[in-house]
Amino acid sequence: MQRVPTGIPGLDSITQGGFPKGSTILVSGGAGTGKTIFALQYIYAGAALYNEPGVFVTFEESSKNILWNLQNFGWDYASLNKQGLMKIYRVSIESPEKFANTWNDQVDNIITMVKEMGAQRVALDSITALGMMLAERVTDKDGAELWIGNTLAVRTMIKTLSDRLKELDVTSIFTSGTKEDKKTEFSSFGVEEFIVDGVIRLYYIPPRRALFVRKMRGTNHSHRVHPMTISEKGIEVHPNDEILWEALK
Ligand SMILES: Nc1ncnc2c1ncn2[C@@H]1O[C@H](COP(=O)(O)OP(=O)(O)OP(=O)(O)O)[C@@H](O)[C@H]1O
Ligand SMILES: [Mg+2]
Repeated sequence: MQRVPTGIPGLDSITQGGFPKGSTILVSGGAGTGKTIFALQYIYAGAALYNEPGVFVTFEESSKNILWNLQNFGWDYASLNKQGLMKIYRVSIESPEKFANTWNDQVDNIITMVKEMGAQRVALDSITALGMMLAERVTDKDGAELWIGNTLAVRTMIKTLSDRLKELDVTSIFTSGTKEDKKTEFSSFGVEEFIVDGVIRLYYIPPRRALFVRKMRGTNHSHRVHPMTISEKGIEVHPNDEILWEALK
């Protein structure tokens, strides 16, 4: 099997050399666990270390966060972009109505960009922001408004995206937010983890960070929870060290 090295120090040695080529990997975790940095570093390292073109797609309200991260870690996006090796693409999703009308075009735009660049890596940050657009607003018996996730619609959307990227043999990362206190939760809507080929969960147990490979199809990956650090160089995983499952919240 062909492997795609992530370029994230310490990670490839616990996954037999990287992600299976053409796979879709979910990176999930609570707020501030490092999902965006992880996804951005995967695209950046692909371009800077392996000469593999990649696209980082952000569905966050603002792309400021991405620019902060690039500056913060000294990742020279301008030059990689000029060489056609890296692209940041922002999809704005202001309202569910607008989203419903434009989503198919947005997917076509992403796929066209991937083809034109010859991208081998794609990161989508985040599936949570996307899925929220498919949630339905209902009113409970006391008149309070609630958002109910339409899991079938989320599932279909993720599957479609994943399949279209797979057809092009692109290896992609989707990020997904989880609740803080549930270490066994792997996604926002409870369906994402079953569609993808791999699941990586990030944890933040102050002051420590950790990473756990929950699944990776076709891979004899580590079954331990590994310490992870974020520094001025980005994310680093410590493959020889372990954090006990019991220590996670
Ligand atoms: N240079 C740095 N050195 C150490 N830690 C850093 C550095 N830059 C960022 N961080 C840490 O990374 C965290 C942000 O990571 P990131 O934005 O990837 O999280 P996230 O999981 O995407 O969060 P969200 O759920 O809000 O999208 C910051 O809260 C900070 O703790
Ligand atoms: Mg984020």
